[in-house]
Amino acid sequence: MKVPALVVDRSRGEAARRALVAAGALRTDLAIVEDGSRLAFPLRDGGAVPPGWGTVEPREFPARPEPGPSDFRQLLGWTAPELEAVPRSFDVVGDVVLIRLPVELEPRRDEIGEALLRFVPGARLVGLDRGVRGDARRRTVERIAGTGGWATRHRENGLELDVDLELAYFSPRLAREHARVAAEVVAGEAVYDLCCGVGPFAVTIAREGRARSIVAVDANPEAIALLGRTLARYRLEGRVAANVGRVEQFASTAPAVDRVVLNLPREGIKYAALVAPLVLPGGSLTYYEVVPRESFAGRADEVARALGPGGGWSVNSVRVVHPYSPSSDLVAVSARRGGA
Ligand SMILES: C[S@@+](CC[C@H](N)C(=O)[O-])C[C@H]1O[C@@H](n2cnc3c(N)ncnc32)[C@H](O)[C@@H]1O
Repeated sequence: MKVPALVVDRSRGEAARRALVAAGALRTDLAIVEDGSRLAFPLRDGGAVPPGWGTVEPREFPARPEPGPSDFRQLLGWTAPELEAVPRSFDVVGDVVLIRLPVELEPRRDEIGEALLRFVPGARLVGLDRGVRGDARRRTVERIAGTGGWATRHRENGLELDVDLELAYFSPRLAREHARVAAEVVAGEAVYDLCCGVGPFAVTIAREGRARSIVAVDANPEAIALLGRTLARYRLEGRVAANVGRVEQFASTAPAVDRVVLNLPREGIKYAALVAPLVLPGGSLTYYEVVPRESFAGRADEVARALGPGGGWSVNSVRVVHPYSPSSDLVAVSARRGGA
């Protein structure tokens, strides 16, 4: 259908949409259309475009698709008591959907898988997530719907990471942490990303371009291979040295740097103390640990002591990243070594 349209550069798209909504000028039964680097907004009959947004021209618009269900469980067609045990939440990693199910729902897992496949736009495969295990923190996954393997590309913070859910650890729940830590890196810093997995911290830091050097280390060769693929796609191989190795060995020989990131939450505080000497005076350490909720209050003091009483460490923050179990949280600890 051809109607008057406001066409703006994509960078002004969200602001334009808001301005049109506020002026009551946006037509909501038609879809907003992409046109290269520009967006076209369909206007109501007689809708006045607020000043400063440019000219109005006629454009062809398709009807806006009917909104689908807001909860995948609506696609199951089950009774309310049956639905009670079905979790609302699931994870999306690239084109793979992962869900955890209580045992009693396993006989009906295929139905749940099919519902998720229909519900999540672009989903190719749905897996039952049986959690991570072993030193490499590999995930045990079982296909419940869809096709293909567990290798995918996950988009976060404007980057596409090579991931294989069976071969190496990855969690889509850490995207904000990856961005937050990368944003803290100061120009010229040398950085270690320890227990890097497929390297989301290292790649995000490299993409920001301020670090002088980045070394990423993980004991799982498959994780390092996946990181290598991501770095090659972005031509960032020259900025990140990706090594297969154990932190214990690495820490015994590597020189100290400005910033260390350590993401091995189950070992938590034990490894924080191991890597503390890798931080230069004035440098910082971000590490992750799983903390029982009842121990949260005193954690900053315990961490400062564990990092080394002689090291002059101060703990800047202990923040909950997300719940880990009914009684514990995944926590990010940021600490700074004094004496610069
Ligand atoms: C929780 S994952 C962290 C992944 C990554 N930092 C991220 O944000 O996605 C922990 C990683 O530590 C690695 N790992 C476990 N023990 C290790 C050790 N002693 N030395 C080096 N890497 C280790 C595992 O292979 C796994 O990839």
